[in-house]
Amino acid sequence: MDIERFVNDMTLDEKLELIVGPGLPGQFGNEDVEVKGTVGVIRGVKGLPDINLADGPAGLRIPPERPGDDYKYYTTSFPIASMLASTWNRKILRKVGEAMGEETKEYGVDVLLAPALNIQRNPLGGRNFEYYSEDPVVSGEMAASFVEGVQSKGVGTSIKHFVANNQETNRMKIDTKVSERTLREIYLKGFEIALKAEPWTVMTAYNKLNGYYCSQNEYLINKILKEEWGFDGLVMSDWFAGDSGARQIKAGNDLIMPGKSYQVFENRIDEREEIKKGLEEGILTEEDIDKAVRNLLKLIIKTPKYNNYNYSNKPNLKEHAKIACNAALEGIVVLKNEGIFPVKDKKVALFGTAQIETIKGGLGSGDTHPKYVINIIEGFEEKNIKFDEELYEIYKNKVEEMRKEEYKPYQNHLGYTLYPRLPQNIIDNISHYAENNDVAIIVISRISGEFFDIDIKDFYLYDDEIKLIEEVSKEFKKRNKKVGVLLNIGSPIEMASWEKLVDGSMLIWQAGQETGRAVADIVKGNISPSGKLALSIAKKYEDLPSLPFPAKGDEVVYDEGIYVGYRYFDTFKKEPLYEFGYGLSYTDFEYSNLKVEKQEDKLLISYDIKNIGNNPGKEISQVYVRAPRGKIDKPFQELKGFEKTKLLNPDEVETINITINIKDLSSYCCNDWMLEKGIYEIRVGASSRDIRLIEKISIE
Ligand code: GLC
Repeated sequence: MDIERFVNDMTLDEKLELIVGPGLPGQFGNEDVEVKGTVGVIRGVKGLPDINLADGPAGLRIPPERPGDDYKYYTTSFPIASMLASTWNRKILRKVGEAMGEETKEYGVDVLLAPALNIQRNPLGGRNFEYYSEDPVVSGEMAASFVEGVQSKGVGTSIKHFVANNQETNRMKIDTKVSERTLREIYLKGFEIALKAEPWTVMTAYNKLNGYYCSQNEYLINKILKEEWGFDGLVMSDWFAGDSGARQIKAGNDLIMPGKSYQVFENRIDEREEIKKGLEEGILTEEDIDKAVRNLLKLIIKTPKYNNYNYSNKPNLKEHAKIACNAALEGIVVLKNEGIFPVKDKKVALFGTAQIETIKGGLGSGDTHPKYVINIIEGFEEKNIKFDEELYEIYKNKVEEMRKEEYKPYQNHLGYTLYPRLPQNIIDNISHYAENNDVAIIVISRISGEFFDIDIKDFYLYDDEIKLIEEVSKEFKKRNKKVGVLLNIGSPIEMASWEKLVDGSMLIWQAGQETGRAVADIVKGNISPSGKLALSIAKKYEDLPSLPFPAKGDEVVYDEGIYVGYRYFDTFKKEPLYEFGYGLSYTDFEYSNLKVEKQEDKLLISYDIKNIGNNPGKEISQVYVRAPRGKIDKPFQELKGFEKTKLLNPDEVETINITINIKDLSSYCCNDWMLEKGIYEIRVGASSRDIRLIEKISIE
């Protein structure tokens, strides 16, 4: 296509038809689309095809059923992004991306609205499950690998939500006040790293950033994203974001999604009319519109739709299930283990309703609709973990009964199906199960979703959960038997107050459709856990620097600045319960032979990792850098690189090579990146607080 000529031949109305979406497909009288679940359409003008956009980070979100069609459009439900990040494995993110890309393409969708890489600023963030980490390097690296995977299949992605959208409360209006340095080093950095994968699109966030809606923020879009970083893809708004189509186009937000916001918000007018008015008032020029049109045309000609790809509606779901399971296996994080995991051939008394009502993921646009979910007890059955059948039968019957009555699922005002939490005090006579089994495992679950932040009540265990843990712990300890807890959650909860009652705790996250299989393989010991935390777990909520959360009213000030997560705990000497980068294995690793070499503008770092334990396993090692004290304050240390070994057998050694760009050691201040000269400590660790090797290097 000769884009220039195409643009010149377009009327203003045709251009507006392209850059403003046709409204939520199939709703409010808008034309339906061929692919159900498509949440946005770029309307084809002048013979161009319609381009379809659909969510989301844990899988392609389209409903399996379509009216009058008995074919089932199932998609794979992958582990949530927080769990994918806990693999610290770029290869896994790429594989998951490839699988999701194939499903996107084979179901006739052109752009997958993922990955979401906002920073997890506080454990009550409603969409934390959709995000990767508290750290920008992990976030950016995971996002880049995922984007490469998806786009290797010829469909697009959308790195979102650009930027500093870290709470759901009042998300469409709240003004995030954040310093330039904090913005650059923490909230923008992940997106900057992710650009190396050349995502087709960026989705601007709902919130305001220092006074201006992100989707209307010229400094954010035209200056930083396009001019400074050289992003030449497409920028789209989040759905119904902002308050002025004219200012969005002027700011460099090329596509207004889903369009026709007046259908949902009565104080809005048709964006096309707004833009025409903006032209008259000089808010923007036709050249601004042409820039947006060019970016849209550049995207359209890349899409399968434009290239007449004949999609099959038959992605390889069997293959993708294996990829989802492998991702879950590598994302499980063992936090505490005093002789309970793996259970091997011991007989397990499995407590907790979530053994049946296992949570596969979160709610909202990051939800998925898989063909099945293997819950925890089904996984135990399949992997031949011996468990107390009588106890299971009681749970099964009680859950079925309760789900019929007072605890049945309901639709909330947004049409999402919510599941009331089931009570945990439904089992009597625990001593009987302590007699008949070797160990006890208790499953605790939490669910959260888009549109609402997590209630502080959910951060703590409920009385019935505490009672269950106390009862089980008492009866099993009396008989010198071990107790473990599985955390089926999407964001950290309070653990310090009750964890001393148990011998082990395992963070199994929300692992998608293959949950039970992956959990059982790790619990039984078929596979060694290799996941590590990509966030910090605080001892108590009051220790967090991001309080009060969520901010009420129309403004939130990020006054903790760059001191987010481990940057806060390590610099201000606060002890977390479990630190960033932490996770146990069923084997042990020895680090040795650290070499740091300066080569022009890079640091070449190499070290050896040896499996000195008795089981095969994979090790995630991290490279932190402690900069010299200079003109400005600095975090105690910052993550600058990481790698995961292949599966190492006992006595096997792998040499890790990591390259760091020296410029990435600088801090942002006085409107530019500044590199302090002096002695830098290169700190190689099994976690941020388990540093195994240190070398010093001088940088002038
Ligand atoms: C939602 C979300 C965004 C999603 C979009 C389409 O409100 O913020 O992540 O991709 O709208 O569903």
